[in-house]
Amino acid sequence: MKNKIIDILIRADGNVVSGVQLSKALNVSRVAVWKQLQQLKQIGCNIESTPKGYILKNREDLLFPTLFSRRAESLYFFQSLPSTMDKARELAKKETAHFSVVIAEHQTNGRGRLNRSWSSDEGGLWFTIILKPQLPPPLAYKVNFAASYCLSSTLNRHLGIETTVKWPNDILLGNKKLAGLLSEMETKGDMISFVNIGIGLNVNNHPEKNEPNAVSLCSILGRKTPRRIILSTFLDVFEEMLLNLDRINIIDLWKKRTSTIGKHVSLNTHDNVFHGFAKDVDDSGALIIVQEDGTEQRIIYGDCFHT
Ligand code: BTN
Repeated sequence: MKNKIIDILIRADGNVVSGVQLSKALNVSRVAVWKQLQQLKQIGCNIESTPKGYILKNREDLLFPTLFSRRAESLYFFQSLPSTMDKARELAKKETAHFSVVIAEHQTNGRGRLNRSWSSDEGGLWFTIILKPQLPPPLAYKVNFAASYCLSSTLNRHLGIETTVKWPNDILLGNKKLAGLLSEMETKGDMISFVNIGIGLNVNNHPEKNEPNAVSLCSILGRKTPRRIILSTFLDVFEEMLLNLDRINIIDLWKKRTSTIGKHVSLNTHDNVFHGFAKDVDDSGALIIVQEDGTEQRIIYGDCFHT
């Protein structure tokens, strides 16, 4: 019933819809409509009650699948999940289609790279894209670099901000972290069975409370940003890029957006810490650093800090 109410309010395009209209359309009492509206308000729908009826105010921010038109069928939306990564893995193992997306308003056990936890309050964009590319596992890096490149360029183009990508695939605004990407892959024989890309983008939440090095669009722009527009634009851009991935040198493109090359960096890998000057990212996505003694080190995975 909630989806239907949202549908009607959206189609009203900012105009008032009366309680009588809603109860007739849904064939339920006005009290039943009122109860549903209260629940919708509780889950973040900004529905204004006026003497003449109801108006939906924040439609551009809402993430209900029905609002994504052609994508509606391939979006899985949850009010709360432990982690969109777990749900995406569960779905990916079934017949779930390539480029399906799992979205949660809130995660109770969001995770980041190197087993860190990821705080996922309401107001942010927390989602995982299920990808089933026809690629061998060693080429999965292309998909990861394409995701961070597309997210950074979408944000820059649509919001007029200057984000950069930090190796391997964080999105920075200045030197603060605006978004993080986490990729999990499963293989079958010589091919990728699925690669799930989880993205956490701080939009209207306030991560800086617990994470001094994090920032959100809301605190930078000084206003709320409609999440659905960002998500749907990014998905369009990323999907298009995936279709052309074999004709594009994604590493070259990504390098034009990175703030890592040319910086002094510290790198934490699972079992080591490296320091040096970030010289380049090679064609397979590995970071090449020059250490103090002049030796080069090629790093394929780790957490990078610009120092
Ligand atoms: C990182 O920078 O360490 C990666 C953070 C990835 C967070 C996102 S939020 C959506 C998805 N679900 C998770 O539990 N993690 C990713």
